[in-house]
Amino acid sequence: MEQVRVAPSILSADFLRLGADLESVRTADWIHYDVMDGHFVPNVSFGPDILKATKRGTDLPVDVHLMVTNPDECFQSYLDAGADVLTFHFEAATHHHRIIDGIHKAGRLAGVSINPGTPVQALDALVDYADVILVMSVNPGFGGQKFIEGTYRKLQQLQVMCQEHDVHPIIEVDGGVSATNAEALVRAGVRALVAGSAVFKAEDRAAAITQIREAGKLGLGKRA
Ligand code: DX5
Ligand code: ZN
Repeated sequence: MEQVRVAPSILSADFLRLGADLESVRTADWIHYDVMDGHFVPNVSFGPDILKATKRGTDLPVDVHLMVTNPDECFQSYLDAGADVLTFHFEAATHHHRIIDGIHKAGRLAGVSINPGTPVQALDALVDYADVILVMSVNPGFGGQKFIEGTYRKLQQLQVMCQEHDVHPIIEVDGGVSATNAEALVRAGVRALVAGSAVFKAEDRAAAITQIREAGKLGLGKRA
Protein backbone atom coordinates (compact mmCIF):
# COMPACT_ATOMS: atom_id res chain seq x y z
CA MET A 1 0.00 0.00 0.00
CA GLU A 2 1.31 3.44 -0.91
CA GLN A 3 2.06 5.87 1.88
CA VAL A 4 0.28 9.17 2.53
CA ARG A 5 2.55 11.45 4.57
CA VAL A 6 1.35 14.24 6.83
CA ALA A 7 3.90 16.99 7.44
CA PRO A 8 2.86 19.55 10.09
CA SER A 9 4.42 22.95 9.40
CA ILE A 10 6.00 24.32 12.57
CA LEU A 11 5.57 27.83 11.18
CA SER A 12 2.21 27.55 13.00
CA ALA A 13 3.80 26.29 16.24
CA ASP A 14 4.36 28.35 19.39
CA PHE A 15 8.07 29.19 19.13
CA LEU A 16 8.30 29.68 22.89
CA ARG A 17 7.30 26.04 23.36
CA LEU A 18 8.84 24.48 20.27
CA GLY A 19 9.94 21.31 22.09
CA ALA A 20 6.46 20.65 23.49
CA ASP A 21 4.85 21.48 20.14
CA LEU A 22 7.15 19.03 18.32
CA GLU A 23 6.20 16.40 20.89
CA SER A 24 2.50 17.12 20.23
CA VAL A 25 2.88 16.14 16.54
CA ARG A 26 5.09 13.06 16.98
CA THR A 27 2.51 10.85 15.20
CA ALA A 28 3.13 12.75 11.95
CA ASP A 29 5.37 11.45 9.14
CA TRP A 30 7.59 14.46 8.52
CA ILE A 31 8.13 17.80 10.26
CA HIS A 32 7.84 20.65 7.74
CA TYR A 33 10.34 23.47 8.39
CA ASP A 34 9.68 26.74 6.50
CA VAL A 35 12.71 28.97 5.95
CA MET A 36 11.75 32.54 4.95
CA ASP A 37 14.27 35.28 4.26
CA GLY A 38 12.14 38.44 3.93
CA HIS A 39 13.13 38.71 0.23
CA PHE A 40 11.77 35.70 -1.63
CA VAL A 41 8.70 36.02 0.61
CA PRO A 42 7.67 39.04 2.72
CA ASN A 43 7.99 37.15 6.02
CA VAL A 44 11.02 36.03 8.06
CA SER A 45 11.04 32.76 10.01
CA PHE A 46 14.06 30.73 11.14
CA GLY A 47 17.40 29.46 9.85
CA PRO A 48 19.92 26.65 10.36
CA ASP A 49 20.41 27.10 14.13
CA ILE A 50 16.74 26.56 14.96
CA LEU A 51 16.84 23.61 12.53
CA LYS A 52 19.56 22.04 14.70
CA ALA A 53 17.34 22.56 17.76
CA THR A 54 14.34 21.11 15.88
CA LYS A 55 16.38 18.01 15.01
CA ARG A 56 17.08 17.52 18.71
CA GLY A 57 13.35 17.79 19.47
CA THR A 58 12.03 15.14 17.06
CA ASP A 59 12.85 11.68 15.69
CA LEU A 60 10.85 12.37 12.52
CA PRO A 61 12.51 13.33 9.23
CA VAL A 62 12.65 17.11 8.91
CA ASP A 63 11.40 18.42 5.57
CA VAL A 64 13.05 21.79 4.98
CA HIS A 65 11.34 24.22 2.57
CA LEU A 66 13.70 27.02 1.55
CA MET A 67 11.80 30.19 0.59
CA VAL A 68 14.95 32.23 0.03
CA THR A 69 16.40 34.11 -2.93
CA ASN A 70 19.83 32.47 -2.68
CA PRO A 71 19.43 28.69 -2.32
CA ASP A 72 22.64 28.14 -4.35
CA GLU A 73 24.61 29.86 -1.59
CA CYS A 74 22.86 28.64 1.54
CA PHE A 75 21.59 25.10 0.89
CA GLN A 76 24.74 23.50 2.33
CA SER A 77 24.19 25.07 5.76
CA TYR A 78 20.78 23.36 5.97
CA LEU A 79 22.34 20.01 5.07
CA ASP A 80 24.96 20.59 7.75
CA ALA A 81 22.17 21.42 10.23
CA GLY A 82 20.50 18.05 9.48
CA ALA A 83 17.76 18.58 6.86
CA ASP A 84 16.46 15.15 5.81
CA VAL A 85 14.50 16.48 2.84
CA LEU A 86 15.72 19.76 1.37
CA THR A 87 13.48 21.64 -1.07
CA PHE A 88 14.40 24.84 -2.88
CA HIS A 89 12.32 27.01 -5.19
CA PHE A 90 12.70 26.68 -8.94
CA GLU A 91 12.18 30.47 -9.25
CA ALA A 92 15.07 31.32 -6.92
CA ALA A 93 17.78 28.88 -7.97
CA THR A 94 20.41 29.52 -10.62
CA HIS A 95 22.13 26.11 -10.90
CA HIS A 96 19.35 23.66 -10.12
CA HIS A 97 21.17 20.40 -10.91
CA ARG A 98 24.20 21.49 -8.90
CA ILE A 99 22.02 21.99 -5.80
CA ILE A 100 20.30 18.65 -6.34
CA ASP A 101 23.69 16.92 -6.70
CA GLY A 102 24.91 18.57 -3.50
CA ILE A 103 21.83 17.34 -1.61
CA HIS A 104 22.30 13.82 -2.98
CA LYS A 105 26.00 13.82 -2.06
CA ALA A 106 24.88 14.36 1.56
CA GLY A 107 22.54 11.36 1.23
CA ARG A 108 19.35 13.42 1.65
CA LEU A 109 16.22 13.78 -0.47
CA ALA A 110 16.20 16.70 -2.92
CA GLY A 111 13.03 18.65 -3.58
CA VAL A 112 12.10 21.35 -6.09
CA SER A 113 9.14 23.66 -5.46
CA ILE A 114 7.07 25.87 -7.76
CA ASN A 115 4.91 28.84 -6.81
CA PRO A 116 1.23 28.93 -7.82
CA GLY A 117 2.10 31.25 -10.73
CA THR A 118 4.88 29.06 -12.13
CA PRO A 119 3.83 26.59 -14.84
CA VAL A 120 4.51 22.87 -14.30
CA GLN A 121 6.48 22.94 -17.56
CA ALA A 122 9.29 24.64 -15.60
CA LEU A 123 10.00 21.23 -14.00
CA ASP A 124 10.58 19.39 -17.27
CA ALA A 125 14.38 19.56 -16.99
CA LEU A 126 14.36 18.62 -13.28
CA VAL A 127 11.73 15.95 -12.75
CA ASP A 128 14.22 13.19 -13.64
CA TYR A 129 16.52 14.27 -10.79
CA ALA A 130 14.28 15.44 -7.93
CA ASP A 131 13.03 13.06 -5.21
CA VAL A 132 10.27 15.46 -4.16
CA ILE A 133 8.21 17.97 -6.15
CA LEU A 134 6.53 20.56 -3.92
CA VAL A 135 3.59 22.30 -5.57
CA MET A 136 2.65 25.44 -3.65
CA SER A 137 -1.11 25.83 -3.28
CA VAL A 138 -0.83 29.36 -1.79
CA ASN A 139 1.60 32.14 -2.53
CA PRO A 140 4.23 31.36 0.09
CA GLY A 141 4.96 33.57 3.08
CA PHE A 142 2.29 32.91 5.68
CA GLY A 143 0.29 30.13 7.27
CA GLY A 144 -3.50 30.11 7.26
CA GLN A 145 -4.07 31.17 3.64
CA LYS A 146 -6.80 29.91 1.32
CA PHE A 147 -6.04 26.93 -0.94
CA ILE A 148 -5.85 27.93 -4.63
CA GLU A 149 -8.19 25.58 -6.54
CA GLY A 150 -6.17 25.87 -9.76
CA THR A 151 -3.61 23.62 -8.03
CA TYR A 152 -5.57 20.53 -9.16
CA ARG A 153 -4.99 21.35 -12.81
CA LYS A 154 -1.27 21.71 -12.16
CA LEU A 155 -1.20 18.38 -10.32
CA GLN A 156 -2.83 16.69 -13.32
CA GLN A 157 -0.22 18.22 -15.63
CA LEU A 158 2.53 17.06 -13.26
CA GLN A 159 1.19 13.50 -13.30
CA VAL A 160 1.27 13.50 -17.10
CA MET A 161 4.83 14.82 -17.05
CA CYS A 162 5.95 12.15 -14.56
CA GLN A 163 4.36 9.41 -16.69
CA GLU A 164 6.08 10.69 -19.82
CA HIS A 165 9.42 10.70 -18.01
CA ASP A 166 8.66 7.40 -16.25
CA VAL A 167 9.62 8.86 -12.85
CA HIS A 168 7.86 8.72 -9.48
CA PRO A 169 8.93 11.63 -7.27
CA ILE A 170 7.02 12.20 -4.02
CA ILE A 171 4.49 14.91 -4.85
CA GLU A 172 3.93 17.31 -1.97
CA VAL A 173 1.39 20.13 -1.61
CA ASP A 174 1.72 23.06 0.78
CA GLY A 175 -0.84 25.73 1.72
CA GLY A 176 -4.47 25.52 2.82
CA VAL A 177 -4.36 21.73 3.20
CA SER A 178 -6.81 20.07 5.62
CA ALA A 179 -8.87 16.88 6.02
CA THR A 180 -11.42 18.50 3.66
CA ASN A 181 -9.19 18.46 0.57
CA ALA A 182 -6.77 15.63 1.46
CA GLU A 183 -8.67 12.92 -0.46
CA ALA A 184 -8.90 15.00 -3.65
CA LEU A 185 -5.20 15.88 -3.40
CA VAL A 186 -4.11 12.25 -3.00
CA ARG A 187 -6.35 11.35 -5.95
CA ALA A 188 -4.42 13.95 -7.92
CA GLY A 189 -1.15 12.19 -7.09
CA VAL A 190 -0.08 13.92 -3.85
CA ARG A 191 1.72 11.71 -1.31
CA ALA A 192 2.93 14.36 1.17
CA LEU A 193 0.42 16.80 2.70
CA VAL A 194 1.86 19.84 4.50
CA ALA A 195 -0.56 21.22 7.09
CA GLY A 196 0.19 24.14 9.38
CA SER A 197 -2.96 25.65 10.86
CA ALA A 198 -5.07 22.49 10.26
CA VAL A 199 -2.79 20.67 12.75
CA PHE A 200 -1.53 23.33 15.17
CA LYS A 201 -4.86 25.11 15.64
CA ALA A 202 -6.67 21.83 16.33
CA GLU A 203 -7.70 21.01 19.89
CA ASP A 204 -6.31 17.49 19.48
CA ARG A 205 -3.31 17.56 17.14
CA ALA A 206 -2.81 13.79 17.01
CA ALA A 207 -6.46 13.43 15.98
CA ALA A 208 -6.05 16.14 13.33
CA ILE A 209 -3.02 14.32 11.87
CA THR A 210 -4.95 11.02 11.78
CA GLN A 211 -7.95 12.70 10.15
CA ILE A 212 -5.83 14.25 7.40
CA ARG A 213 -3.93 10.99 6.79
CA GLU A 214 -7.09 8.84 6.75
CA ALA A 215 -8.91 11.31 4.48
CA GLY A 216 -5.88 11.25 2.18
CA LYS A 217 -5.78 7.43 2.13
CA LEU A 218 -9.33 7.38 0.73
CA GLY A 219 -7.84 8.87 -2.43
CA LEU A 220 -5.27 6.06 -2.91
CA GLY A 221 -6.03 3.81 -5.83
CA LYS A 222 -8.37 6.40 -7.34
CA ARG A 223 -7.31 8.61 -10.19
CA ALA A 224 -8.33 12.22 -10.66
C1 DX5 B 1 3.53 28.91 3.40
C2 DX5 B 1 4.35 27.82 4.04
C3 DX5 B 1 3.50 26.72 4.54
C4 DX5 B 1 2.56 27.12 5.65
C5 DX5 B 1 1.32 26.27 5.52
O1 DX5 B 1 4.36 29.87 2.89
O2 DX5 B 1 5.27 27.27 3.09
O3 DX5 B 1 4.25 25.56 4.89
O4 DX5 B 1 3.10 26.97 6.93
O5 DX5 B 1 0.37 26.71 6.42
P1 DX5 B 1 -1.18 26.35 6.28
O6 DX5 B 1 -1.29 24.86 6.29
O7 DX5 B 1 -1.79 27.02 7.48
O8 DX5 B 1 -1.66 26.93 4.98
ZN1 ZN C 1 6.22 25.24 3.42
